[in-house]
Amino acid sequence: MNINVKIGDLNNTQSDLLLLGVFQNETKFLSSTVLVNQSLDGYIKFLIDNHEVTGKLSEITLFYTPREFYPQIKSKKILILGLGQRKKFDHNIFRELLSKVSMYLINKNVSTIISSLPDDLSKDFDSKEIYISFSEGLYFGIYKFDKYKTKNLPITIPNLCNIVLQDDNFDSINQYILKGIRLAKAECFARDLVNEPANNLSPEIFASSAIDISKKLNVKSVVYDLEKLKSFGMGAFIGVTSGSDRPPKFIHLTYEGDKKNPDNNIWIIGKTITFDTGGISLKGPVGMSAMKGDMGGGAAVLSAFEVICQYKPKVNVNIICPATDNMPSGSAQKPGDVVVAMNGISIEVDNTDAEGRLTLADAISYAKKNNASMIIDIATLTGAARVSLGEGQSAIFSNNDSFLSMLIESSKLTGEVFWRLPLDPVSKKQNHSDIADIKNSGGRSAGTITAAHFISEFVGDTPWIHIDIAATSMISSGRSWYKKGATGVTTRTIIRLILDTLSVKEIINR
Ligand code: BES
Ligand code: MN
Ligand code: ZN
Repeated sequence: MNINVKIGDLNNTQSDLLLLGVFQNETKFLSSTVLVNQSLDGYIKFLIDNHEVTGKLSEITLFYTPREFYPQIKSKKILILGLGQRKKFDHNIFRELLSKVSMYLINKNVSTIISSLPDDLSKDFDSKEIYISFSEGLYFGIYKFDKYKTKNLPITIPNLCNIVLQDDNFDSINQYILKGIRLAKAECFARDLVNEPANNLSPEIFASSAIDISKKLNVKSVVYDLEKLKSFGMGAFIGVTSGSDRPPKFIHLTYEGDKKNPDNNIWIIGKTITFDTGGISLKGPVGMSAMKGDMGGGAAVLSAFEVICQYKPKVNVNIICPATDNMPSGSAQKPGDVVVAMNGISIEVDNTDAEGRLTLADAISYAKKNNASMIIDIATLTGAARVSLGEGQSAIFSNNDSFLSMLIESSKLTGEVFWRLPLDPVSKKQNHSDIADIKNSGGRSAGTITAAHFISEFVGDTPWIHIDIAATSMISSGRSWYKKGATGVTTRTIIRLILDTLSVKEIINR
C-alpha cells in the first residue's frame, strides 16, 4: 500500500472511498465531516439524527455516492468510522481502528482511499503519533501470510491512500507517515519470519537474510560457525546445537552511530531457536508445530535493527541472534550434562528443553566481553509466561529502573503491553545445582521468573532488560491490529526506544 500526503480539497479529489470519522455523543463535527456533510446537503447529520450513525467505537457505515445524485463529491463511496468517546481516544485506538478499516475494505472493490481524518485529529491529539498510527493501522489491516496457499483467490486490497491536508506542515507529516510505514513493515517482516515454517528457515537462511540486511545498510556483520564458537568457549550454546544436523550460526551485526564514544552502546539479543523440539527432554506433539516460532526474539531484533539503521541515531547498536535448532539425536546433549559458558560459569543441564537461556548465556557473555554498556534480551523463553500473563502482555524484568522506564515510555507509543515481574530472592534458589554453579531449570513454580534469574547470573551489574515473549509472539486468535499467528511483538517498541526514548549516557553516567 502507498500512502501519500497531498494538499487539496476533499470533495474534489477522486477516489474509490472517502474516509470520515465521528466521535460518539458529539454534536460538533470534525472539519472534514463538516465539509462533506455540507456537500451532501446535511445527509451525515441526518444519519446521526436517525441513529444510523452513532460514532460508537469501530462502527463502520458505508454508502455509495453516485455521480448522478452527488455531483459535488468525487469519491465513489463514503465510509464513516465510529471513533468512540473522545475522552478514551488516543493513537493506540486509532491504529486499531485503521487496521479494522483496511481489513474491512479487502474485497470491497476499493483500491484508492482519501481522508483528512488524521489531519483533523492531529489538531486535538498527539499529531506525530496520530500520523504514525494511521499508516501502521492501514498496513496491519491487510497483513496476511498466505504464500503457501496454491489456490489463492484473487482479492482486491486497498493499495493507495491519499491524506488530504487543508494546510501546511507538509514535510513533517510526510516524515511521520514514512516512519509509520517503516515501523509497520518491520513488524510485518518479523511476523513473516515467525510464521515461516522451520523447513524453510534454518539457522543458515536466517543468517543469510541478516547478512543481506547488513549489506543493504552498509553496516558491519559477522556470522560465527561452530569452530569459531568452540574457540570462544561457548559451551552452553554449543550444547544446544549438538543434536542438530543443520549447522548453528551466531549472528552479530553492528551499527556505529557514535564511533567516538564506544561506551555509548546498546546490545540487543534475540533468542533464535529455529525449531525447538525440546531435545532429549522431548516436547509432546500437541502444539509442537508452534516451535517454528521459537526465533521470535531474533526476528524482532533483526527487523528492528534495519529501521534503526535507516534513521542513523547517535548511538552504537549491536544485535546478536544465536541461531540453532534444538533437536534430539545420538549427538544431542543429555539431561544431567554439565556445560561451561564463555564466561566460565558451569551449568547443569537439568532439562534440555530449557535451551533458550543456555543460548542467551553465551550471547550475553559475548556482549559483556565486547564491553556492552547495556543489554536487552528478547526471548520466547517460558511456557509459564502464558500461565502468568496470557497473550495480552509480555513479561519484563530489569536490574535498572531508569532503563526500564525508557522502555515503558516507548511502549506507550506503540501500544505494546509489558508487565514487570520481580527478581525475588526466594525463587532464585530454585536454580541451585548440587554439582555445578547453576542449573538451567528451576522447576514448575515461577517458571518465567527462574528463567530470568538464570539469565541475570550472566548479566551481572550491566544495565539490562529481559523480555519474555513466549505468550505474545504468536497468538491464538486475532485482536486489535494483530492477526492469528505471529505478532512481531517488540519490534516497534525496540525501534521507538532507540530512536525516541533512550539515553545510554543518562544510565551509564549515573
Ligand atoms: N520455547 C520454549 C518456550 C515456549 C513455550 C515458547 C510455548 C512459546 C510457546 C522454551 O524453550 C521451553 O521449552 N521452555 C520450557 C522451560 C522448562 C523446561 C524449564 C517450558 O516453558 O516448559
Ligand atoms: Mn525449549
Ligand atoms: Zn525454546
